[in-house]
Formats: sequence, structure tokens, C-alpha cells
Amino acid sequence: MIEKGETYLVMGLLDPDSIAFAIGRKITEQGGRVIYTVQNERMKRLLFDRNKKLSKEEKEKLEIRFCDITIEEELTDLFSDIESLAGIVHSIAYVNPKTGLGENFHTDAIEDLKNGFHISSISLASVTRHATNSLKKPSSIVTLTFDTKHVYPYYNWMGVNKAALEAVVRGLARQHGQDLIRVNAVSAGPLSTKAATNIPGFTELSQTWNNTSPIPWDTEKDKEEVANAALFLLGNYSQKITGQILHVDGGASITGGQLMPYEKA
Ligand SMILES: NC(=O)c1ccc[n+]([C@@H]2O[C@H](COP(=O)([O-])OP(=O)(O)OC[C@H]3O[C@@H](n4cnc5c(N)ncnc54)[C@H](O)[C@@H]3O)[C@@H](O)[C@H]2O)c1
Repeated sequence: MIEKGETYLVMGLLDPDSIAFAIGRKITEQGGRVIYTVQNERMKRLLFDRNKKLSKEEKEKLEIRFCDITIEEELTDLFSDIESLAGIVHSIAYVNPKTGLGENFHTDAIEDLKNGFHISSISLASVTRHATNSLKKPSSIVTLTFDTKHVYPYYNWMGVNKAALEAVVRGLARQHGQDLIRVNAVSAGPLSTKAATNIPGFTELSQTWNNTSPIPWDTEKDKEEVANAALFLLGNYSQKITGQILHVDGGASITGGQLMPYEKA
């Protein structure tokens, strides 16, 4: 689905469980070149280098750069020597779990909320602004979101950030259509990653999917399906699709109430 030999920047690699890695691996399998970004060297050492899911050789083959998405100079540096990008994957989010997630929606930790909003929503626009001259015409930007039609327990301010991120997708799509840069999001069901396990109640969220997803949902294996959809949006078969939120969630986001026993596989 993607062109062999094209270069893609995949931002948000933490460890081999990251959605970023599932997408990057698929791009590589299809003959694309992938440049990953990791937030900083310390995180790479602690979480990526120590992870045993990939061999030393497999790790050394990956092309990795560092970029904290909230630091303008790091974005400038990153794009200063990257050119002819066919696509960018923005797979980044953060909110302080102690204040932005949990049983109580209310918090007075406004600085935490601002930081979460910067990382999880505004950063898509920051990346696009810095990347415009490095992107080919046509090219594609894909970000990752989570169902914003419903209010989920514990997800509190990340839910707000995701709603904002989807609005940023539409704003950027309108702005950059003239540059033939498409901007879309994949709205994924719950998947087992570091970010997800930091969400209090992730297990309950996964159980919710068992009760609401018409197509059975697997929090491990379905990372592949999310990656497939990202590749569709990155590649040649989506040339006139922009500003859209593509739900890859087994259908849970359109289900009213719970599945009846006769509807379950
Ligand atoms: N896992 C799920 O259930 C799920 C579902 C839907 C959407 N998503 C979204 O997918 C994306 C990727 O998350 P994941 O589940 O793969 O988890 P992950 O923890 O592997 O990835 C999150 C990434 O965000 C990065 N990040 C946070 N702050 C940053 C900063 N200041 N600068 C640069 N990078 C920063 C982290 O370093 C990490 O690499 C996120 O946007 C997440 O909200 C996840």
C-alpha cells in the first residue's frame, strides 16, 4: 500500500509494544525506509534498549532520532536534514495520570493539563508546521486518537485532548490541502502499550470492548489492524481522503448499549 523506497518519519517510539513500532515495522516490510523518533536518549536507554522483545541486531538496524515534541529547537533540528518525506506518523500523547486521569474529573493542576494539551493535541500542528518543507507533494500525516463520541471512565482529560486533536486534524487538513498534504487520524480501540497501562482502569476499558465491539477485539493482536489502517492512510489508496477520523475499533464506537448475548461470537 505504500511506495517502495519512500521515507516515513514515525514519531513516538517508546518500546517494541508501541503502536509506532507496529506501524514502522509494517512500512519496513513493505519496502519503505523508516526514521523513528524517541522522546529522549534517557527513555531509549531505560525502555527501548532494555526491552528483550527485539534482538540487539534488530535494534541496531533501526534508524532512530530524538525529539521532545514540546521543544521547538528539537523540532527545528529534526527537520533540518530530513527531506522528501512521503509521510509522518504522529503517535504521541501524555497527560499526568495522577491529575489528568482517574476517578475524579476535577483537578486544580492546570499546568499539568496545559502540558498534556501541548503534547497530545497542539504537537500535531507543531510537527506539521516544522515538516511542511520536508514533505513531498503528495504526502500524508497520520495521528492516533481514541473514541471521542463517548465519555469513558478514568480517561478524563485525555478524552478532552483527543477531541482537540481531532479538531487539529481538520484544521490542518483544510490548511494543507493546497500543498497536497493529507492529515487524518486512526481512532484505535484499546491496545496493550505503555501509555495504555498508565491509564487507570485500562483492564475495565478492555472489558468494555468485549461487551460493545461487534467484531471481537484483541488488545494485543489488533495493533496489526490499526497499523494496516495507518498504512492505508499513508499510502496511494487514500489520495482524496483528508481531515478524517478512521475508526479501527471493531465497531465499538457505533454501538449503543452493550451487545446482547445473541450478538456475541
Ligand atoms: N494504546 C491504546 O489503547 C491507544 C488507543 C487509541 C489511541 N492511542 C494513541 O496512540 C498513540 C501512541 O500510544 P501508544 O499506546 O503506542 O503508547 P506508547 O507509550 O508506546 O507511546 C506514547 C509515546 O508518546 C511519547 N511522548 C510523550 N510525551 C512526549 C514528548 N514530550 N515528546 C515526544 N514524545 C512524547 C512517548 O515517549 C511514547 O513514545 C497515543 O497518541 C495514544 O493516545 C493509544
